[in-house]
Amino acid sequence: MRFLELGTEVEDALAPYAAVDRTPAEGRCWVTAHMVAGLDGCAAVGGRVGALSTAPDKALFADMRTLADVVLVGARTVREEGYGPIRLSEERSATRVARGLTPAPPLAVVSRSLDLDWDSRAFADAAPESRTIVVTCADAPAPRLARAREVAEVLVAGEESVQPDDLFRQLAARGQQRVLCEGGPSLLGELVVAGHVDELCLTISPMMGGDPLPVAVFPPGAPLTGFSLRHVLGEDDTLFLRYEVDRDD
Ligand SMILES: NC(=O)c1ccc[n+]([C@@H]2O[C@H](COP(=O)([O-])OP(=O)(O)OC[C@H]3O[C@@H](n4cnc5c(N)ncnc54)[C@H](OP(=O)(O)O)[C@@H]3O)[C@@H](O)[C@H]2O)c1
Repeated sequence: MRFLELGTEVEDALAPYAAVDRTPAEGRCWVTAHMVAGLDGCAAVGGRVGALSTAPDKALFADMRTLADVVLVGARTVREEGYGPIRLSEERSATRVARGLTPAPPLAVVSRSLDLDWDSRAFADAAPESRTIVVTCADAPAPRLARAREVAEVLVAGEESVQPDDLFRQLAARGQQRVLCEGGPSLLGELVVAGHVDELCLTISPMMGGDPLPVAVFPPGAPLTGFSLRHVLGEDDTLFLRYEVDRDD
């Protein structure tokens, strides 16, 4: 065991994340999960994440979106958090445009029920070049699917539920290979079990309490997935851990 000594100050907190090589294998996506937890692993307070997120976490959360081709979120998080389209600072948008990307990545919402507010900001305020994507399955209610097609791009990836293999194959074919998954815990658990999460950026906030909801929810008996620690950053009392999944191959 070793003490971790404080290292040099990082001027741009995004820089250590931007330096990571996220080139995926041919036809695959690189999936980064970005989550925040309290010291007890809690992932929400009163059904929302806001109280868990410290100022430096809020800043990094916004900045991480700069690196993504698409931001993937489970429908319950979109409903609870009132998600809108992704917006970046002018400076971050300019960096993307200079790299040939859209000013901001589109939001992609995973839902079977399609119980979504089609008049909400997530759909109504999306820029034409970054229309919100609805990821669903063939068994989704037909009238809602028709409505989704009016206000969003729709990807059907599976019959009874969204199949991660199918979803990421489609995203990769669209050139949206760097995927930032912002949760929620149910979606994250599914993606980890399916072997599709490559990287976990986990913020540890200096507090306890909140809802009995861990950062990832797994079906009973799910196998363990191993991760290796790649870096640790800190600001005030907030810790930022970056892990990558251990791969056999
Ligand atoms: N701490 C953090 O970093 C963090 C991050 C995000 C969210 N949160 C919190 O987490 C809570 C919400 O998370 P959650 O785990 O309950 O839900 P979630 O993962 O956000 O969303 C679950 C929903 O996603 C859809 N879904 C997931 N997998 C699917 C599949 N394979 N096929 C089709 N649809 C699928 C379903 O939507 P339908 O019901 O529409 O079919 C399902 O009900 C909120 O309290 C939020 O504040 C915390």
